[in-house]
Amino acid sequence: QDAVEFHGDRQAGIVTPAQDRLHFVSFDVITDDRDALVRLLQDWTTAARRMTRGQDAGPVGAVQGNEYAPPDDTGEALGLPPAGLTLTIGFGPTLFRTADGTDRFGIADRQPAALVELPGFAGDLIDPTISGGDLCIQACADDPQVAVHAVRNLARIGVGLVSVRWSQLGFGRTSSTSSDQVTPRNLFGFKDGTDNLKAEQPATLDRFVWVSGTDSWMDGGSYLVSRKIRMLVEVWDRQNLRDQQQTIGRTKGSGAPLGQRGEFDPVDFTTQVEGDVAVPPTSHVFLAHPTNSGTAILRRGYSFVDGSDGLGRLDAGLFFLCYQSDPETGFVQVQRNLRTDKLNEYVQHTSSAVFACPPGVTGDDDWWGSGLF
Ligand code: HEM
Repeated sequence: QDAVEFHGDRQAGIVTPAQDRLHFVSFDVITDDRDALVRLLQDWTTAARRMTRGQDAGPVGAVQGNEYAPPDDTGEALGLPPAGLTLTIGFGPTLFRTADGTDRFGIADRQPAALVELPGFAGDLIDPTISGGDLCIQACADDPQVAVHAVRNLARIGVGLVSVRWSQLGFGRTSSTSSDQVTPRNLFGFKDGTDNLKAEQPATLDRFVWVSGTDSWMDGGSYLVSRKIRMLVEVWDRQNLRDQQQTIGRTKGSGAPLGQRGEFDPVDFTTQVEGDVAVPPTSHVFLAHPTNSGTAILRRGYSFVDGSDGLGRLDAGLFFLCYQSDPETGFVQVQRNLRTDKLNEYVQHTSSAVFACPPGVTGDDDWWGSGLF
Protein backbone atom coordinates (compact mmCIF):
# COMPACT_ATOMS: atom_id res chain seq x y z
CA GLN A 1 0.00 0.00 0.00
CA ASP A 2 3.10 2.25 -0.12
CA ALA A 3 3.67 5.04 -2.60
CA VAL A 4 5.49 4.34 -5.86
CA GLU A 5 7.95 7.13 -6.74
CA PHE A 6 6.44 9.37 -9.40
CA HIS A 7 9.72 11.03 -10.43
CA GLY A 8 12.37 9.21 -12.43
CA ASP A 9 14.02 8.78 -15.80
CA ARG A 10 11.22 6.39 -16.78
CA GLN A 11 7.52 6.72 -16.12
CA ALA A 12 6.24 4.47 -13.35
CA GLY A 13 3.52 2.02 -14.36
CA ILE A 14 5.55 0.24 -17.05
CA VAL A 15 8.15 -2.03 -15.42
CA THR A 16 7.20 -1.19 -11.83
CA PRO A 17 5.35 -4.18 -10.31
CA ALA A 18 1.89 -4.51 -11.89
CA GLN A 19 -0.77 -3.56 -9.34
CA ASP A 20 -4.09 -5.37 -9.00
CA ARG A 21 -6.48 -2.73 -10.36
CA LEU A 22 -6.72 -0.51 -13.39
CA HIS A 23 -8.65 2.52 -14.57
CA PHE A 24 -7.57 3.41 -18.09
CA VAL A 25 -8.89 6.54 -19.79
CA SER A 26 -8.53 7.97 -23.27
CA PHE A 27 -9.21 11.66 -23.92
CA ASP A 28 -9.95 13.81 -26.95
CA VAL A 29 -8.38 17.26 -26.73
CA ILE A 30 -11.19 19.74 -27.46
CA THR A 31 -9.16 22.94 -27.51
CA ASP A 32 -6.90 24.12 -30.34
CA ASP A 33 -4.93 26.36 -27.98
CA ARG A 34 -1.38 25.08 -27.58
CA ASP A 35 -0.71 27.12 -24.42
CA ALA A 36 -3.87 25.80 -22.79
CA LEU A 37 -2.80 22.23 -23.58
CA VAL A 38 0.67 22.84 -22.11
CA ARG A 39 -0.91 24.33 -18.96
CA LEU A 40 -3.16 21.31 -18.66
CA LEU A 41 -0.20 18.91 -18.89
CA GLN A 42 1.55 20.95 -16.18
CA ASP A 43 -1.53 20.96 -13.96
CA TRP A 44 -2.03 17.25 -14.49
CA THR A 45 1.59 16.58 -13.56
CA THR A 46 1.21 18.55 -10.32
CA ALA A 47 -1.96 16.65 -9.41
CA ALA A 48 -0.43 13.29 -10.40
CA ARG A 49 2.65 13.98 -8.27
CA ARG A 50 0.36 14.66 -5.29
CA MET A 51 -2.09 11.81 -5.79
CA THR A 52 0.63 9.18 -6.24
CA ARG A 53 1.87 10.26 -2.79
CA GLY A 54 -1.58 9.68 -1.35
CA GLN A 55 -2.42 13.40 -1.14
CA ASP A 56 -5.46 15.30 -2.37
CA ALA A 57 -5.35 16.31 -6.05
CA GLY A 58 -5.05 20.01 -5.15
CA PRO A 59 -3.26 21.86 -2.33
CA VAL A 60 -6.43 22.96 -0.54
CA GLY A 61 -7.99 19.52 -0.54
CA ALA A 62 -11.43 18.01 -0.45
CA VAL A 63 -12.74 19.63 2.75
CA GLN A 64 -10.44 22.46 3.87
CA GLY A 65 -11.37 25.15 1.38
CA ASN A 66 -13.93 27.88 0.96
CA GLU A 67 -17.31 26.29 1.46
CA TYR A 68 -18.77 28.39 -1.35
CA ALA A 69 -16.34 26.98 -3.96
CA PRO A 70 -16.07 23.47 -5.40
CA PRO A 71 -13.25 21.62 -3.62
CA ASP A 72 -9.99 20.95 -5.54
CA ASP A 73 -10.29 17.26 -4.72
CA THR A 74 -13.39 15.11 -5.00
CA GLY A 75 -12.86 13.42 -1.62
CA GLU A 76 -13.44 9.72 -2.20
CA ALA A 77 -9.81 8.86 -1.49
CA LEU A 78 -9.70 10.67 1.87
CA GLY A 79 -8.18 8.34 4.42
CA LEU A 80 -6.97 5.84 1.83
CA PRO A 81 -3.25 5.05 1.47
CA PRO A 82 -1.41 5.69 -1.85
CA ALA A 83 -2.12 2.02 -2.71
CA GLY A 84 0.83 1.88 -5.08
CA LEU A 85 -0.87 4.32 -7.47
CA THR A 86 0.97 4.93 -10.73
CA LEU A 87 -0.20 7.35 -13.41
CA THR A 88 1.29 6.89 -16.86
CA ILE A 89 0.58 9.26 -19.74
CA GLY A 90 0.61 8.58 -23.48
CA PHE A 91 0.12 10.70 -26.60
CA GLY A 92 -1.91 9.31 -29.52
CA PRO A 93 -1.15 9.89 -33.23
CA THR A 94 -4.15 12.25 -33.50
CA LEU A 95 -2.60 14.67 -31.00
CA PHE A 96 0.07 15.43 -33.60
CA ARG A 97 -2.21 15.53 -36.61
CA THR A 98 -6.00 15.23 -36.64
CA ALA A 99 -7.71 12.76 -38.98
CA ASP A 100 -8.05 15.53 -41.60
CA GLY A 101 -4.34 16.38 -41.30
CA THR A 102 -4.54 19.52 -39.15
CA ASP A 103 -1.51 20.32 -37.01
CA ARG A 104 -3.45 21.96 -34.14
CA PHE A 105 -0.55 22.34 -31.74
CA GLY A 106 2.45 22.85 -34.03
CA ILE A 107 3.92 19.45 -33.17
CA ALA A 108 3.27 17.50 -36.39
CA ASP A 109 6.97 17.53 -37.24
CA ARG A 110 7.71 15.94 -33.87
CA GLN A 111 5.46 12.92 -34.41
CA PRO A 112 7.71 9.87 -34.10
CA ALA A 113 7.80 7.62 -37.17
CA ALA A 114 6.89 4.71 -34.88
CA LEU A 115 3.64 6.39 -33.73
CA VAL A 116 1.17 5.41 -36.44
CA GLU A 117 -2.32 3.90 -36.27
CA LEU A 118 -2.23 0.12 -35.97
CA PRO A 119 -3.14 -1.92 -39.05
CA GLY A 120 -6.25 -4.11 -39.08
CA PHE A 121 -5.87 -7.79 -38.21
CA ALA A 122 -7.85 -10.83 -39.31
CA GLY A 123 -10.86 -11.30 -37.03
CA ASP A 124 -10.86 -7.73 -35.67
CA LEU A 125 -14.24 -6.31 -34.68
CA ILE A 126 -13.03 -2.88 -33.62
CA ASP A 127 -15.54 -0.34 -32.30
CA PRO A 128 -14.18 3.16 -33.12
CA THR A 129 -16.10 4.75 -30.23
CA ILE A 130 -13.92 2.87 -27.72
CA SER A 131 -10.69 3.14 -29.71
CA GLY A 132 -7.94 5.69 -30.27
CA GLY A 133 -7.71 9.03 -28.50
CA ASP A 134 -5.38 12.05 -28.33
CA LEU A 135 -4.14 11.37 -24.78
CA CYS A 136 -4.34 8.44 -22.41
CA ILE A 137 -3.78 7.95 -18.72
CA GLN A 138 -3.18 4.50 -17.31
CA ALA A 139 -4.00 4.55 -13.59
CA CYS A 140 -2.97 1.41 -11.71
CA ALA A 141 -3.32 0.85 -7.96
CA ASP A 142 -3.97 -1.89 -5.46
CA ASP A 143 -7.26 -0.23 -4.50
CA PRO A 144 -9.80 0.42 -7.28
CA GLN A 145 -11.14 3.51 -5.52
CA VAL A 146 -7.68 5.09 -5.60
CA ALA A 147 -7.34 4.48 -9.35
CA VAL A 148 -10.84 5.79 -10.10
CA HIS A 149 -10.28 8.83 -7.88
CA ALA A 150 -7.13 9.70 -9.82
CA VAL A 151 -8.78 9.46 -13.24
CA ARG A 152 -11.84 11.34 -12.05
CA ASN A 153 -9.75 14.23 -10.72
CA LEU A 154 -7.62 14.45 -13.87
CA ALA A 155 -10.83 14.57 -15.94
CA ARG A 156 -12.19 17.26 -13.62
CA ILE A 157 -9.04 19.36 -13.99
CA GLY A 158 -9.30 18.98 -17.77
CA VAL A 159 -12.91 20.18 -18.10
CA GLY A 160 -13.31 22.36 -21.20
CA LEU A 161 -9.93 21.25 -22.60
CA VAL A 162 -10.33 17.50 -22.88
CA SER A 163 -13.30 15.18 -22.95
CA VAL A 164 -13.28 11.53 -22.00
CA ARG A 165 -13.46 9.49 -25.20
CA TRP A 166 -13.63 6.09 -23.52
CA SER A 167 -12.42 4.43 -20.37
CA GLN A 168 -11.97 0.93 -19.03
CA LEU A 169 -11.83 -0.60 -15.57
CA GLY A 170 -9.76 -3.70 -14.92
CA PHE A 171 -10.21 -5.74 -11.75
CA GLY A 172 -7.30 -8.14 -11.76
CA ARG A 173 -3.82 -8.06 -13.22
CA THR A 174 -3.05 -10.67 -15.86
CA SER A 175 0.70 -10.34 -15.82
CA SER A 176 3.71 -10.09 -13.60
CA THR A 177 6.33 -7.48 -14.36
CA SER A 178 8.70 -8.53 -11.58
CA SER A 179 9.99 -11.97 -10.63
CA ASP A 180 8.99 -11.22 -7.01
CA GLN A 181 5.32 -11.38 -7.97
CA VAL A 182 3.11 -14.45 -7.94
CA THR A 183 1.73 -15.16 -11.42
CA PRO A 184 -1.98 -14.30 -11.52
CA ARG A 185 -4.63 -16.19 -13.51
CA ASN A 186 -6.71 -14.84 -16.36
CA LEU A 187 -10.41 -15.46 -17.00
CA PHE A 188 -9.66 -18.70 -18.87
CA GLY A 189 -8.22 -19.97 -15.57
CA PHE A 190 -4.60 -20.09 -16.76
CA LYS A 191 -1.58 -18.51 -15.16
CA ASP A 192 -0.74 -15.46 -17.23
CA GLY A 193 2.51 -13.54 -17.20
CA THR A 194 4.88 -16.44 -16.53
CA ASP A 195 7.12 -15.70 -19.49
CA ASN A 196 6.57 -11.94 -19.51
CA LEU A 197 9.49 -9.53 -19.69
CA LYS A 198 10.42 -8.60 -16.12
CA ALA A 199 11.99 -5.63 -14.35
CA GLU A 200 14.94 -7.85 -13.43
CA GLN A 201 16.03 -8.13 -17.10
CA PRO A 202 17.36 -4.59 -17.79
CA ALA A 203 19.28 -5.51 -20.94
CA THR A 204 16.20 -7.18 -22.47
CA LEU A 205 14.04 -4.19 -21.52
CA ASP A 206 16.55 -1.85 -23.15
CA ARG A 207 16.30 -3.89 -26.30
CA PHE A 208 12.54 -4.45 -26.52
CA VAL A 209 10.73 -1.92 -24.31
CA TRP A 210 12.58 1.39 -23.97
CA VAL A 211 13.10 3.80 -26.84
CA SER A 212 16.76 4.77 -27.21
CA GLY A 213 19.14 6.24 -29.74
CA THR A 214 16.47 8.24 -31.61
CA ASP A 215 17.87 11.55 -30.38
CA SER A 216 14.31 12.76 -29.83
CA TRP A 217 11.90 13.56 -27.00
CA MET A 218 10.88 9.87 -26.93
CA ASP A 219 14.28 8.53 -25.80
CA GLY A 220 13.64 6.86 -22.44
CA GLY A 221 9.95 6.41 -23.22
CA SER A 222 7.98 3.48 -24.61
CA TYR A 223 5.00 2.80 -26.89
CA LEU A 224 1.77 1.50 -25.43
CA VAL A 225 -0.72 -0.63 -27.35
CA SER A 226 -4.16 -1.24 -25.82
CA ARG A 227 -6.61 -3.86 -27.11
CA LYS A 228 -9.89 -4.72 -25.48
CA ILE A 229 -10.30 -8.44 -26.07
CA ARG A 230 -13.65 -10.06 -25.40
CA MET A 231 -13.21 -13.60 -24.11
CA LEU A 232 -16.03 -15.98 -24.98
CA VAL A 233 -15.92 -17.58 -21.57
CA GLU A 234 -19.09 -19.67 -21.99
CA VAL A 235 -17.69 -21.31 -25.13
CA TRP A 236 -14.33 -21.87 -23.45
CA ASP A 237 -15.95 -23.41 -20.37
CA ARG A 238 -17.44 -26.20 -22.53
CA GLN A 239 -14.04 -27.32 -23.86
CA ASN A 240 -12.37 -30.23 -22.14
CA LEU A 241 -9.27 -29.63 -20.07
CA ARG A 242 -6.94 -31.28 -22.57
CA ASP A 243 -8.25 -29.07 -25.34
CA GLN A 244 -7.85 -25.94 -23.20
CA GLN A 245 -4.24 -26.88 -22.41
CA GLN A 246 -3.47 -27.62 -26.06
CA THR A 247 -4.89 -24.22 -26.98
CA ILE A 248 -2.66 -22.35 -24.56
CA GLY A 249 0.38 -24.69 -24.72
CA ARG A 250 0.73 -24.83 -20.93
CA THR A 251 -0.82 -26.93 -18.13
CA LYS A 252 -3.70 -25.28 -16.31
CA GLY A 253 -2.65 -26.35 -12.80
CA SER A 254 1.05 -25.53 -12.51
CA GLY A 255 1.36 -23.33 -15.58
CA ALA A 256 4.28 -25.47 -16.83
CA PRO A 257 4.83 -25.58 -20.59
CA LEU A 258 3.33 -28.82 -21.96
CA GLY A 259 5.94 -31.58 -21.64
CA GLN A 260 7.72 -29.84 -18.70
CA ARG A 261 7.16 -29.91 -14.93
CA GLY A 262 7.60 -26.49 -13.36
CA GLU A 263 5.93 -23.18 -14.18
CA PHE A 264 9.23 -21.51 -15.03
CA ASP A 265 10.78 -24.43 -16.94
CA PRO A 266 11.81 -23.12 -20.36
CA VAL A 267 9.42 -23.81 -23.22
CA ASP A 268 10.98 -26.56 -25.36
CA PHE A 269 9.39 -26.96 -28.78
CA THR A 270 11.27 -30.22 -29.45
CA THR A 271 9.90 -32.16 -26.45
CA GLN A 272 7.62 -34.99 -27.56
CA VAL A 273 4.80 -36.67 -25.65
CA GLU A 274 3.36 -39.93 -27.01
CA GLY A 275 4.98 -39.30 -30.41
CA ASP A 276 3.62 -35.75 -30.82
CA VAL A 277 5.28 -32.42 -30.12
CA ALA A 278 4.18 -31.42 -26.63
CA VAL A 279 3.51 -27.77 -27.45
CA PRO A 280 1.24 -27.73 -30.54
CA PRO A 281 2.28 -25.32 -33.33
CA THR A 282 -1.21 -23.78 -33.24
CA SER A 283 -1.04 -23.05 -29.51
CA HIS A 284 -0.86 -19.52 -28.15
CA VAL A 285 2.47 -20.00 -26.41
CA PHE A 286 4.05 -21.58 -29.49
CA LEU A 287 3.11 -18.65 -31.72
CA ALA A 288 3.68 -15.88 -29.16
CA HIS A 289 7.07 -17.14 -27.96
CA PRO A 290 10.09 -15.09 -29.10
CA THR A 291 11.55 -18.15 -30.86
CA ASN A 292 8.65 -18.11 -33.31
CA SER A 293 7.51 -14.46 -33.26
CA GLY A 294 11.07 -13.13 -33.44
CA THR A 295 10.38 -10.42 -30.86
CA ALA A 296 9.27 -9.69 -27.28
CA ILE A 297 6.82 -7.32 -25.57
CA LEU A 298 6.08 -6.34 -21.99
CA ARG A 299 2.48 -7.30 -21.18
CA ARG A 300 0.58 -5.39 -18.47
CA GLY A 301 -3.09 -6.21 -19.05
CA TYR A 302 -6.12 -6.60 -16.78
CA SER A 303 -9.23 -8.77 -16.64
CA PHE A 304 -12.55 -7.02 -17.01
CA VAL A 305 -16.22 -7.96 -16.61
CA ASP A 306 -18.51 -5.20 -17.89
CA GLY A 307 -21.71 -6.87 -16.71
CA SER A 308 -23.51 -9.05 -19.25
CA ASP A 309 -24.38 -8.59 -22.89
CA GLY A 310 -28.17 -9.02 -22.80
CA LEU A 311 -27.86 -12.46 -24.40
CA GLY A 312 -27.12 -14.26 -21.15
CA ARG A 313 -23.36 -14.10 -21.59
CA LEU A 314 -20.77 -12.31 -19.48
CA ASP A 315 -19.27 -9.30 -21.22
CA ALA A 316 -15.83 -10.34 -20.04
CA GLY A 317 -12.28 -10.43 -21.26
CA LEU A 318 -8.79 -9.10 -21.19
CA PHE A 319 -7.95 -5.44 -21.46
CA PHE A 320 -4.60 -6.15 -23.06
CA LEU A 321 -1.86 -3.56 -22.56
CA CYS A 322 1.67 -3.97 -23.81
CA TYR A 323 4.77 -1.81 -23.97
CA GLN A 324 7.48 -1.93 -26.62
CA SER A 325 10.15 0.25 -28.20
CA ASP A 326 8.30 0.17 -31.54
CA PRO A 327 4.71 -1.06 -32.06
CA GLU A 328 5.57 -2.41 -35.52
CA THR A 329 8.29 -4.75 -34.26
CA GLY A 330 6.40 -5.39 -31.01
CA PHE A 331 2.63 -5.90 -30.83
CA VAL A 332 2.01 -5.85 -34.60
CA GLN A 333 4.62 -8.52 -35.26
CA VAL A 334 3.34 -10.79 -32.48
CA GLN A 335 -0.32 -10.27 -33.36
CA ARG A 336 0.34 -11.10 -37.04
CA ASN A 337 2.05 -14.28 -35.91
CA LEU A 338 -1.02 -15.20 -33.85
CA ARG A 339 -3.12 -15.42 -37.05
CA THR A 340 -3.29 -19.23 -36.75
CA ASP A 341 -3.63 -19.22 -32.96
CA LYS A 342 -6.21 -21.76 -31.73
CA LEU A 343 -7.07 -19.18 -29.05
CA ASN A 344 -8.71 -17.03 -31.75
CA GLU A 345 -11.80 -19.28 -31.59
CA TYR A 346 -12.45 -17.92 -28.11
CA VAL A 347 -11.49 -14.24 -28.32
CA GLN A 348 -12.52 -11.13 -30.23
CA HIS A 349 -10.65 -7.80 -30.30
CA THR A 350 -13.13 -4.92 -29.92
CA SER A 351 -11.01 -1.84 -29.23
CA SER A 352 -7.57 -0.68 -30.27
CA ALA A 353 -5.26 2.23 -29.52
CA VAL A 354 -1.60 3.20 -29.64
CA PHE A 355 0.17 5.88 -27.61
CA ALA A 356 3.68 7.28 -27.25
CA CYS A 357 4.56 7.36 -23.56
CA PRO A 358 7.31 9.92 -22.95
CA PRO A 359 10.17 9.41 -20.49
CA GLY A 360 9.63 10.11 -16.80
CA VAL A 361 9.13 13.41 -14.99
CA THR A 362 12.53 14.03 -13.44
CA GLY A 363 11.69 16.47 -10.65
CA ASP A 364 9.38 19.15 -9.26
CA ASP A 365 10.03 21.55 -12.15
CA ASP A 366 9.49 18.98 -14.87
CA TRP A 367 6.12 18.01 -16.37
CA TRP A 368 4.53 15.39 -18.62
CA GLY A 369 5.55 16.06 -22.21
CA SER A 370 8.05 18.85 -21.44
CA GLY A 371 10.37 17.43 -24.09
CA LEU A 372 7.66 17.52 -26.75
CA PHE A 373 6.36 21.10 -26.41
C1 HEM B 1 1.58 -15.89 -23.10
C2 HEM B 1 -3.21 -15.82 -22.43
C3 HEM B 1 -3.66 -12.43 -25.88
C4 HEM B 1 1.14 -12.29 -26.32
C5 HEM B 1 0.32 -16.18 -22.63
C6 HEM B 1 0.00 -17.20 -21.66
C7 HEM B 1 -1.34 -17.16 -21.47
C8 HEM B 1 -1.88 -16.14 -22.33
C9 HEM B 1 -2.15 -18.04 -20.52
C10 HEM B 1 1.01 -18.15 -20.99
C11 HEM B 1 1.63 -17.61 -19.75
C12 HEM B 1 2.71 -16.58 -19.97
O1 HEM B 1 3.83 -16.88 -20.40
O2 HEM B 1 2.43 -15.42 -19.68
C13 HEM B 1 -3.75 -14.90 -23.33
C14 HEM B 1 -5.16 -14.64 -23.49
C15 HEM B 1 -5.28 -13.69 -24.46
C16 HEM B 1 -3.95 -13.35 -24.91
C17 HEM B 1 -6.27 -15.32 -22.71
C18 HEM B 1 -6.52 -13.04 -25.05
C19 HEM B 1 -7.62 -12.88 -24.37
C20 HEM B 1 -2.39 -12.10 -26.30
C21 HEM B 1 -2.09 -11.12 -27.32
C22 HEM B 1 -0.73 -11.08 -27.44
C23 HEM B 1 -0.19 -12.05 -26.49
C24 HEM B 1 -3.11 -10.28 -28.08
C25 HEM B 1 0.13 -10.22 -28.32
C26 HEM B 1 -0.19 -9.86 -29.55
C27 HEM B 1 1.67 -13.24 -25.46
C28 HEM B 1 3.09 -13.47 -25.30
C29 HEM B 1 3.22 -14.53 -24.39
C30 HEM B 1 1.86 -14.90 -24.01
C31 HEM B 1 4.22 -12.71 -25.99
C32 HEM B 1 4.52 -15.15 -23.89
C33 HEM B 1 4.87 -16.31 -24.77
C34 HEM B 1 6.17 -16.96 -24.34
O3 HEM B 1 7.20 -16.27 -24.33
O4 HEM B 1 6.14 -18.15 -24.00
N1 HEM B 1 -0.85 -15.56 -23.03
N2 HEM B 1 -3.05 -14.11 -24.19
N3 HEM B 1 -1.23 -12.65 -25.83
N4 HEM B 1 0.97 -14.10 -24.67
FE1 HEM B 1 -1.03 -14.13 -24.47
